Amino acid sequence: MEQSMEHYAERVRSLAPTEEPERQYYFIDVMKSVLAEKENRIGRKLTMNVVTFGCQMNAKDSETLSGILSAIGYEETDNEEADLVLYNTCTVRENANTRVYGRIGYLGNLKKKNPEKRIILCGCMMQEPQAVEKIRKSYRFVDVIFGTHNIFKLAELLFEREVQGALVIDVWDKATGIVEDLPRRNKYGFKAGINIMYGCNNFCSYCIVPYVRGRERSRSAADIVAEARHLADNGVREVMLLGQNVNSYGKNMTDGVSFAQLLHMVSEVEGIRRIRFMTPHPKDLSDELIDEIAVNPKVCKHVHLPLQSGSSRVLRAMNRHYTKERYLELVDKIKERIPGVAVTTDIIVGFPGETEEDFLETIDVVRKAGFMAAYTFLYSKRTGTPAASMEGQVSDEVAGERFKRLLSNVGEVSAREAERFSGRTLEVLCEEYKPGEGLMTGRLDNNLLVHFPAEEALWGELVTVRLEECKGFYYLGTLCSTVV
Ligand code: SAH
Ligand code: SF4
Ligand code: F3S
Repeated sequence: MEQSMEHYAERVRSLAPTEEPERQYYFIDVMKSVLAEKENRIGRKLTMNVVTFGCQMNAKDSETLSGILSAIGYEETDNEEADLVLYNTCTVRENANTRVYGRIGYLGNLKKKNPEKRIILCGCMMQEPQAVEKIRKSYRFVDVIFGTHNIFKLAELLFEREVQGALVIDVWDKATGIVEDLPRRNKYGFKAGINIMYGCNNFCSYCIVPYVRGRERSRSAADIVAEARHLADNGVREVMLLGQNVNSYGKNMTDGVSFAQLLHMVSEVEGIRRIRFMTPHPKDLSDELIDEIAVNPKVCKHVHLPLQSGSSRVLRAMNRHYTKERYLELVDKIKERIPGVAVTTDIIVGFPGETEEDFLETIDVVRKAGFMAAYTFLYSKRTGTPAASMEGQVSDEVAGERFKRLLSNVGEVSAREAERFSGRTLEVLCEEYKPGEGLMTGRLDNNLLVHFPAEEALWGELVTVRLEECKGFYYLGTLCSTVV
């Protein structure tokens, strides 16, 4: 670093507050001037593009990351020619990683034409030392790498990149606490995610999430309700409460609020019309929670209940803490107590040691449980997890064949489940408008989609729609009333 730059960097650092989030607001201000100076020099606005891989938690983190970048002054664009491209990565399955490497290579080519371009990588994949090592060696044009525990530091890390002029890596192996009140940029306006907890303690034997997201930490109920209130004041009608196992909510807290009670507290926020949540775990889904979903009109009648396998033997090897029978009993209870509820699931095919018999147990559960939708995954070996070194890894060929059979069963069952709502008039949140076709896409309380002719002005509104024709996993309908 040249002398004057070093001087400047030292001065900026020495004046930074030590408390969060004040420290980050300070670095946002610093970066604002850095950016303005650059824009003056090159004579145009600088743009950013945030690309999210993986689950809802990452989507939520990306809203914070976009919020910080907007506060710095970057203009959002939808393509990777942007002056700053940030990849918020996922590593839950191997193919997610492979895709990311290919795309980083492409970003490198774009950077050759734009020296101001900054490439930022963060998220779950960056928590893996091998991934960071590979990027450091083979993708030397990357500018900043950080992980899942310090996303709040984005502005400070961008500052470090500018003053150091070289790759900045800052990956923490655990969280130090929860930083509240960061900027956020809400992608939809009318719906938003709220983190209620971070991390996971379950250690399902195939899963890498506990290693890259750390131990379970809950946010205080007061902070969650305050966030819901703030969102509602800004026009949000639907919130989704997010956690890897929402049933564990509150376990490390002293205020004694259970997840069911939290749902209730959020439902009392004026302006919030719908509440969803992801993901409960079948091993500890309480009666209290089922009852809250049943009686609370704001809580959507949709339970996403990951099955993973229908074989009790495989479930034990997966460390899931329930059997086939207990899972089916639970689904029965949910359907009995919550009329019209949709149950959806996640299923893994080809877990080590899975036999044809085990697989047929999975098909059996699919048929008996009557899932409205099932997300199906080929087992992917994740280095460092117990399952990676288990005997009896299933060949790609066998797993692929089972996967196809599973898909056709799932398709049949979910079409049958969806069909049950034909002819009914139900409440819908208008989520997407296709101007060319004059069609609105809305979401039912039970998560089914319906397309119907409507005006664009209804976007973000709750309306009622008559479900005319079931097309498998979505409906065609007609608008009934716009005032709900
Ligand atoms: N915490 C949630 C989901 C976490 S990841 C839960 O417990 O349900 C989302 C889904 O990815 C999981 O439900 C599982 O079906 C799938 N998954 C996780 N690890 C996987 C692996 N190694 N191979 C294939 N699918 C996996
Ligand atoms: Fe992974 Fe299991 Fe935790 Fe879900 S509950 S994140 S599948 S370890
Ligand atoms: Fe992927 Fe991380 Fe979510 S590994 S599934 S983005 S918690």
